[in-house]
Amino acid sequence: MRSSRTSLRVRLAALLAGAAAVGTLVTAGTTTAHAADTPLRDLAAAKGKAMGTAVTGSKLTGTYGDLAGAQFNWLTPGNAMKWGSVEPTRGTFDWAEADQIVAFAEAHGQEVRGHTLVWHSQNPGWLTNGTWTPAQLSTLLNDHIATEVGRYKGRLAAWDVVNEPFNEDGTYRQTLWYNGLGTGYIAQALTAARAADPDAKLYINDYNVEGVNAKSTALYNLVKSLKEQGVPIDGVGLQAHLILGQVPSTLQQNIQRFADLGVDVAITELDIRMTLPSDSAKLTQQAADYKAVMNACVAVARCTGVTVWGFTDSDSWIPSTFPGQGAATPYDENYAPKPAYRAIAEALGGTTTPPTGACTATYSVASQWNTGFTGQVRIACSGAALSSWKVTWTYGAGQQITQAWNATCTQSGAAVSCANASYNGTVPDGGSVTFGFNGSWSGTNPVPTVTLG
Ligand code: G3I
Repeated sequence: MRSSRTSLRVRLAALLAGAAAVGTLVTAGTTTAHAADTPLRDLAAAKGKAMGTAVTGSKLTGTYGDLAGAQFNWLTPGNAMKWGSVEPTRGTFDWAEADQIVAFAEAHGQEVRGHTLVWHSQNPGWLTNGTWTPAQLSTLLNDHIATEVGRYKGRLAAWDVVNEPFNEDGTYRQTLWYNGLGTGYIAQALTAARAADPDAKLYINDYNVEGVNAKSTALYNLVKSLKEQGVPIDGVGLQAHLILGQVPSTLQQNIQRFADLGVDVAITELDIRMTLPSDSAKLTQQAADYKAVMNACVAVARCTGVTVWGFTDSDSWIPSTFPGQGAATPYDENYAPKPAYRAIAEALGGTTTPPTGACTATYSVASQWNTGFTGQVRIACSGAALSSWKVTWTYGAGQQITQAWNATCTQSGAAVSCANASYNGTVPDGGSVTFGFNGSWSGTNPVPTVTLG
């Protein structure tokens, strides 16, 4: 079994090499990072499940691209396939990001979940601001689906055809579509999607339908009715935007009742948010929550898999929508796997490296002038703690440290070694320590890879 720290370090170094182009504020190394030995996508595949993530096309390079390609076997465009993205002006289409994500998936042997065709949100202004007769709306709906589904015919495994049709009490949401076409818009959309790509699995997707409640029961009744009418419906998507410690106890029961109806179930947008800052108790609870969701899906044969709504906290919708909350995904903002990552791996039958903790050192250039600069290194711990520390790096462009504070630094040639001062060796779980230094440079001042030891 490949579990040595050396192999982890090698992989981390490879990932960081990809990140180094980003700029000066780049996380640079750690000796205590951990990751599962087997990528999540392989663990999921061995169980016949999908392990997916929502992605942003512009980010699919460097570390983000490496992880998206290596760890997941399904991708969902987070925004790129929404109507407002693909047809911002009537009749003028922009497929660039959607095409890019589909091409990335194909290059990495991944399936794509199309998201989403008929929704009340993220529609183009020309559509929402227009005044349409039912006949016009009907044509718009059909044409949109024929165009978008048709474009990717044979290449997408599934579509979230209708998104979020219900209110919390199980009544239909009053949307452009419902108000113009009545409940029939749902069957119409599914039928149009089937016609445009007979091989894609067609889903209705909603949030707060994870447990048994009024909303999920409304969805259940809708799916039952659609099946009875012979309308093409293959599955339901349970988004699963969850709150720490609040995985519904009826999740597996709810998945099972849809499965018993004869449709697939996918967890389509899983994230588990917490009040910031995160700490080890919250991250441990979050791991238990992720595991509970994974276990529920693994337990039901017709649960096709789980997609996380962004795999890194640096690409999550939570902080901007719920101020003061975040840390909702399996990787932190610096791409370090969190306890939730290990929990996912374990639920998929994987063994993971023991949680020896995660303390990371981040080097950044705070300011730079003529031939001088001020740098700093931040050491942060999550799920681990330090009682002393030493950070080393090697300068690649002749930089020379002239003065340091909050650490004792020595430089020999290009090699720098900085150890804690007498008063800041302790970095508690969930805490951080920062030290600074002045230096000289000429020509260029690239960020070095640092090692925390
Ligand atoms: O692209 C523009 C950018 O040009 C502009 O500068 C910036 C300023 O606000 O906005 C950018 O657009 C944002 C877009 O995400 C892309 O980042 C929108 O404001 C923002 O509202 C939009 O949020 C998306 C949200 O859906 C809209 O409701 C999230 O990224 C996306 O993750 C989220 O996803 C939804 C699912 O589709 C359905 N289920 C719920 C889920 C979470 O809301």
